[in-house]
Amino acid sequence: MSWKVALTDVTLGEEEAQAAADVVRSGWLSQGEGVARFETEFAAFTGAAHAVAVTNCTIGLELAYEAAGVRPGDEVIVPALTFVATANAARRLGATAVFADVTSPDDLCVDAADVAAKLSPRTRAVVAVHFAGWAADVTALRGALDAAGRGDVVIVEDCAHAPGATYRDGDDRCGTRSAFGAFSFFSNKNMTTGEGGMVTTGDAGRDRLLRALRAHGMTTTTWDRHRGHAFSYDVARVATNGRLDEVRAAIGRVQLRKLPDANRRRGEARGHYLTALAGVPGVDVPFSKGAYGVGAQHLLVVLLPEGTDREGVMGAMRADGVQTSVHYPPTHRFTAYSEPRVELPVTDAITARLLTLPLAPTTTAATVDVVVGALRRALGV
Ligand SMILES: Cc1ncc(COP(=O)(O)O)c(C=O)c1O
Repeated sequence: MSWKVALTDVTLGEEEAQAAADVVRSGWLSQGEGVARFETEFAAFTGAAHAVAVTNCTIGLELAYEAAGVRPGDEVIVPALTFVATANAARRLGATAVFADVTSPDDLCVDAADVAAKLSPRTRAVVAVHFAGWAADVTALRGALDAAGRGDVVIVEDCAHAPGATYRDGDDRCGTRSAFGAFSFFSNKNMTTGEGGMVTTGDAGRDRLLRALRAHGMTTTTWDRHRGHAFSYDVARVATNGRLDEVRAAIGRVQLRKLPDANRRRGEARGHYLTALAGVPGVDVPFSKGAYGVGAQHLLVVLLPEGTDREGVMGAMRADGVQTSVHYPPTHRFTAYSEPRVELPVTDAITARLLTLPLAPTTTAATVDVVVGALRRALGV
């Protein structure tokens, strides 16, 4: 289908093509110096002491949970309103994903009070998803855990949507206040390497552990041995292969340089949306009624008027050439997670109202007018 307005727009150019070609010509494609540079630059960008490049964010979450001490039989508290990877990564480690509600129809990030209510002796970690690129309230989350006497519970930030976003109560960037932050560079994300991810941490020991966990548990890397820095290795623990490669790292370094401007342009597009949507009765825009820091503006999620036939709206907008989506079908209603049945009052109340409108750095005021015009026609207002 050729869209008049597609949901997102991948902004790759000659620089990325050149960077990738340079790697191919170098003859060394697997993890090497380019990955190390990408890690250093990403750590500097976020303000984290360490950054470990990984194959994708899902693996990044799995490694972060494991490094947080999650073992079979443990529980990891996650919001249900997220991409399924947040919960899957826990299940893949043999842990149980325990679902918590989001805070309100305006604040679609995990509710600290509900997390506290879901704690059990088996809780090992809690995941704060920075939904749509807006920081979850990790200060409230840490406070709630401490108040419950659970300073031992590790917070992992799912930063897939939030490279460059700041926290609600400071200028520091997401992925730096908790034990780990896991980022995604999938092709629909704010910066992309096709597949790819990064895990940030402030702790040198956790950094070393992540590096071992992403490389079979080996004590030296192929790159070390290629350079003659090492001849052998030991395997101190059983682990997976979660490495990123040089081609993706080279593309990622270019994308990282472009990220601040891309996020700024996304923010401008959101501004146009807020103006245009203000006149559409019954449509609410989450993260617009409070202080949420500087968002990374990953997704433009709206809540349709109560009782709207969402499929009908999406179909009418499709007929008008406008692509829309739903972020997300909540995880606790998927077959794999449906038992035991959990009720999450806020998530359950808004699920049928969620609609994602097109947003990219290239989205102009004129594009927004086309989208909101199509939405108005679809709603009949
Ligand atoms: C909130 C969230 N977490 C995790 C992921 C997984 O990222 P990846 O595709 O890099 O594994 C995604 C991807 O869409 C996501 O949106």
